[in-house]
Amino acid sequence: MADSFLDKAYDTRSDAETRQMYDRWAASYDAEVFDQAGYKQPARCRDTLLSLQPDRDSRILDVGCGTGLAGVALFEAGYRHIDGCDFSDAMLACASALSLYNALFNTDLNQPPMDVPDAQYDAVTVVGVFSFGHVKPKALDEILRVCKPDAPVIIGLNDHFYQDGQLTAYLAELDDKGVIDHLGDEAGEHLPGINLQGWVISLRKR
Ligand SMILES: C[S@@+](CC[C@H](N)C(=O)[O-])C[C@H]1O[C@@H](n2cnc3c(N)ncnc32)[C@H](O)[C@@H]1O
Repeated sequence: MADSFLDKAYDTRSDAETRQMYDRWAASYDAEVFDQAGYKQPARCRDTLLSLQPDRDSRILDVGCGTGLAGVALFEAGYRHIDGCDFSDAMLACASALSLYNALFNTDLNQPPMDVPDAQYDAVTVVGVFSFGHVKPKALDEILRVCKPDAPVIIGLNDHFYQDGQLTAYLAELDDKGVIDHLGDEAGEHLPGINLQGWVISLRKR
């Protein structure tokens, strides 16, 4: 039987440890998170994106794409111009095997910049990526740099990190500075198989 990682996922103490964990988890991630725990955020974030950016020709960056679960949800909805980035080569290899991303690249979101020119994307998804020991709220600066003006950014996260408040505090700061419009936060299922609720946050770059 494959090792379980869900119970350890938020205990890593450095980015290097987090990357190593995902490199080891990649082969069994979809089975544990999607098949067994019923992960709902890829579909929830896709549905929110559809309401804000219905144009299927939009160029989308799936930030922290992992094995590609959000990419699958986007592709099923008809989006065809999806790039993905992550810092785990093993997760990226799984995403690549799906053959639905236009481009995939390795980048550490806590160590900007990413190798992308300004204002490239019509929309961004960030699903399951902002959390303890994962990507820090400050990474939003770099994510917003690669967005076109008015691009929606859809963030899916678990209730623990949402309630921690550091992400929502940073969103309030960006909103106050006139960098984004924070459109809203919607509560719902994250990983129903382990009774974990989560949020979909939507914002637009100004
Ligand atoms: C819980 S998984 C989510 C993957 C995918 N978005 C999904 O919803 O299934 C978190 C992902 O964030 C990536 N990640 C964590 N910290 C990162 C960092 N500093 N830079 C880039 N990617 C990071 C991990 O490699 C992993 O693929």
